[in-house]
Amino acid sequence: GKHVRLINSSRRLYCSRMAEEAKKLAAYAAVDNHIQNNQVIGVGSGSTIVYAVDRLAEKVRQEKLNIVCVPTSFQARQLILQHGLPLSDLDRHPELDVAIDGADEVDTALTLIKGGGGCLTQEKIVAGCAKHFIVIADYRKDSKALGQQWKKGVPVEVIPMAYVPVSRAIARCFGGEAVLRMAVSKAGPVVTDNSNFILDWKFEHAQNWKEVNTAIKMIPGVVETGLFVGMAERVYFGMEDGSVKTR
Ligand code: 5RP
Repeated sequence: GKHVRLINSSRRLYCSRMAEEAKKLAAYAAVDNHIQNNQVIGVGSGSTIVYAVDRLAEKVRQEKLNIVCVPTSFQARQLILQHGLPLSDLDRHPELDVAIDGADEVDTALTLIKGGGGCLTQEKIVAGCAKHFIVIADYRKDSKALGQQWKKGVPVEVIPMAYVPVSRAIARCFGGEAVLRMAVSKAGPVVTDNSNFILDWKFEHAQNWKEVNTAIKMIPGVVETGLFVGMAERVYFGMEDGSVKTR
């Protein structure tokens, strides 16, 4: 038993190192290919975007680029400030040249599940304001059909007082189960940057994601869904063999 546990834990360590390397590869490739002087740039959220902001800061310093950054979350705002990059917002810059963000899962049609980090609403707003929306991910996010890789379901941001009726409506209309996301401490629900709750909808079968996205948005109390349909223009996957695959 002890032996197996040891092997499993070293395998986990190996896999997570490989995934980190893959995130970095994807992030660097996206920044190198899409960032130019005089751009307004949307900065996504999560662990992969950290590598993109590192690269962006490096490029700005080396090439003396004149850019501004619009964050998609409190985390992104902190990242921008920590790297000494110019911070802006949609009031001043409602049109972005490019937005770069991570994803929890990407299918062959470039439909995304996002919101693993709970920032889906602001991420979708910022992506929607960008001329080009670029996604960066490691090989674990690459999927033939949504649900094959990301097992936690589709995140849906909801107004707190509506979480029970919204959860029931989703299950009734589309099957599966929509579960309130709890804080790691289990002391209470996760609260988003917009002071809302998150339901994770564990769906049972593939659906028409464009229709489902629209239908869920029509339920009173729903703020936004983590389904990004027809938004991503290009995805960079960092692969296990050290290459970068684009779609
Ligand atoms: C946050 C997101 C993230 O982009 C997504 O969860 C991917 O995160 P990571 O880069 O850590 O895998 O949608 O709301």
